[in-house]
This record gives sequence, structure tokens and C-alpha cells, in this order.
Amino acid sequence: MFASDRYKPFDRQQQFHDSTAKYRLFGGAAGPGKTKALLWEAIQQAILLDGVDTLLLRRTFPELESSLLAQFHRDVPRSWYKSYNESKHVVTWTNGSTTRFGYCRNESDVYQYQGAEFLFIGIDELTHFTLKQWQFLTSRNRCSVPGSVCGMAGATNPGNVGHAWVKALWVDKQPPAGFERGDLYDPRDYDFIRARINDNPIYANDTEYRRTLEALPEHLFSMATGTFLRGSTSTSLI
Ligand SMILES: Nc1ncnc2c1ncn2[C@@H]1O[C@H](COP(=O)(O)OP(=O)(O)OP(=O)(O)O)[C@@H](O)[C@H]1O
Ligand SMILES: [Mg+2]
Repeated sequence: MFASDRYKPFDRQQQFHDSTAKYRLFGGAAGPGKTKALLWEAIQQAILLDGVDTLLLRRTFPELESSLLAQFHRDVPRSWYKSYNESKHVVTWTNGSTTRFGYCRNESDVYQYQGAEFLFIGIDELTHFTLKQWQFLTSRNRCSVPGSVCGMAGATNPGNVGHAWVKALWVDKQPPAGFERGDLYDPRDYDFIRARINDNPIYANDTEYRRTLEALPEHLFSMATGTFLRGSTSTSLI
């Protein structure tokens, strides 16, 4: 599907791309390629269908710049797109579709997207976002182009302000506190693709990096290895 010398998905990334769930979560350990998969999902969807809009988000601009935007500039050749708006961080592809890179530092910053519609919305480090932000963004996930199928995806390590609601929706499969219309929660909409550090062959064989992780204090170790997703009695996922 991604027949490009620029991106050859690892097996777990491919599983993420192949999922047809409305809301996907690529979660767990640090480093299996979650950010890259999110970026390429947006690129793929924008390139496959003419005239659609896609959105990629991080919570703050410095985070956006050092992750999604950095990987975009590194991975994507200039000839692939018509223009890149430096101030708005919007890529216009040669087929007229767009990919917008944004951030929502304050909770209300999501309202900048009121009135916009996106075929695909990808949120990197989803547990940095609040349930309210996620729910508002679901209302922007629509597309009038014939043949389009809308969807959203998150990528995340455990921890942070959104830990509880993300875990409820994708791992425990139940509506989180504050969801309001719990009767409309359908667990089939939520697909959790569990990522482990071994899913990235580069780090799977990097004994020095794994030794560094082992030396981390408990809370940082949990974050890096995704252990919270297995419950409090879990041990390392590595
Ligand atoms: N399919 C791939 N082919 C080659 N390199 C890849 C691939 N996927 C990811 N990488 C590389 O592996 C590294 C980790 O990828 P990425 O930053 O996407 O991981 P992550 O899961 O988002 O990590 P973190 O949890 O730290 O945010 C990066 O250097 C990235 O370029
Ligand atoms: Mg990442």
C-alpha cells in the first residue's frame, strides 16, 4: 500500500494502517513508530482522494515541530506537494488535498477548527489532550467527497492528563467519566493497536537503548514501555 522508498511500515504499523475502525489508537511503548505511522496515514489518505483535508495535531507547537513536522520535512520529497504554507503549517498536495499540522495548547484552542471538516484527524500523544478536546474534534471529522470514509486516530504513551479517558475508551472499552451519552458508546468503533518497543526492529536490537530504559525510575520506565496499559500488576512489556 505504501509502495514508497520513503516509508515501509513495520508489521505493527501495518496493522495500524489496516484497521478499519472509526477511531484507532496506536499506543503503548515509546519508539515503535507511532508518530511516523500517524503522519503517513494522513499523507496516504490525502494523496488517495482528491480535494480532501486531513489534520495532524500535538498539544503544543514545540512538540509538533520536533515530532510530526520534523518527520514530514525529513520524509517527504518537495516534488510530492504543490505548496507548504510556513505560517499555517498546511501542505497542499498535487491533487488539491491538504494536510494541516496544528496544536491546541489551551483546551479552547480546538475551536479554531470550528467550521472546518477533515477526512482524517490524527492526534499524536493523545493522552496530552482532554476528553472535551477529543469530543469536539470528532464533530470536525466528516467529508462530503464521494467515496470517502472518515476516521480519527491517536498515538500515545501512557500517562498525562488524558490517561484515564483514553484507557477507558480503548482498553477498558467503556465510556469514561464525562462522556455524557454513554448509551451511544459503541466499543466496535475503538480499535487499540498495542505497540511494544520490539515492534521497531531498529530498537529491538539496540541493547544499549534497552539498558538505558531499564535504568529509568519506575514512572519513566512505565511511560517508556507502556506498562500502565496492562494494569497495575503488570511488568515490563519489553
Ligand atoms: N517504518 C519505519 N521505517 C524506518 N524507520 C522508522 C519507521 N517507523 C519509525 N521509524 C523511525 O524510528 C524512530 C521512532 O519512530 P517514531 O518517532 O515514529 O516512534 P514513536 O513510537 O512515536 O516514539 P515515541 O513514543 O518516543 O513518541 C524514528 O527515528 C523514526 O524515523
Ligand atoms: Mg511519537
